[in-house]
Amino acid sequence: MHRPGLPVSYDRIATIYDADMGASMALPDVGYYLEQARLAAGPVLELGCGSGRVLQALLADGLLAVGIDRSLPMLQQARARCGSEASLLQMDMRQLALRGHFALALLPYSLVTYLLDEAGWQALAEGLSQTLKERARIIIDAFIPRPQLADGRWMRDYARRHQGRWLVRHKRIQQVNDGSHRIERRYRLPGAFDGRTLCTHEQIRAYTPTQLQALCERHLGRVSAIAWDYGQAASAEDARFCTLTVER
Ligand SMILES: C[S@@+](CC[C@H](N)C(=O)[O-])C[C@H]1O[C@@H](n2cnc3c(N)ncnc32)[C@H](O)[C@@H]1O
Repeated sequence: MHRPGLPVSYDRIATIYDADMGASMALPDVGYYLEQARLAAGPVLELGCGSGRVLQALLADGLLAVGIDRSLPMLQQARARCGSEASLLQMDMRQLALRGHFALALLPYSLVTYLLDEAGWQALAEGLSQTLKERARIIIDAFIPRPQLADGRWMRDYARRHQGRWLVRHKRIQQVNDGSHRIERRYRLPGAFDGRTLCTHEQIRAYTPTQLQALCERHLGRVSAIAWDYGQAASAEDARFCTLTVER
């Protein structure tokens, strides 16, 4: 578990997150989450809300929504985006300290890949059981793992324009002995990061849709629906993301 005080990847990239991972999401996930949130019979909790990419759409729609994230710099981005009235809390999803009236919990953009073991899932489940009201739903997505991505070689992810300059990212993914993955990223942006290359690393665990469904059913509740690419693909074969709806 992250120890308070140690900067984590998202702390470092918070100011460029929207141009980086935010812009890499090519699918209409925000619209999908908004539609689901409109159906909820009560307030919505977004775990790992980051810079507010999803949360802002819910709030702009007049929904009652709260965002939590463990990264303060990411929450500062969310504050700037969602405004002073938005409910934003610094919290780890494995140590939720909220008492319950939420009708829907959202875990967008592969947040669960940061749960590296059963203990993490169990801690999430315990926190959610205090936080959600009866018959609440939980919606979780994760990228669908493809073997060729973890070959341990540096590759250029992209070069994209950001504030009139080129933001360039390289990435290397290595499999760790326990089956999780270490992802290293290098960012270059002229005039930023004190003129240096910004390096980040993080550990994730990729889940196949079958593994994800089993974990959800073991820890959270019954999986009542699965969507592929937020409704844009017909099956797992063609999809990049898998989204599960869990009924408690
Ligand atoms: C890929 S970003 C997604 C942000 C936002 N939901 C979106 O869709 O753009 C993942 C976010 O989850 C946060 N995060 C990672 N592990 C977390 C944890 N254990 N508890 C709470 N937040 C976490 C990161 O700080 C980051 O802001």
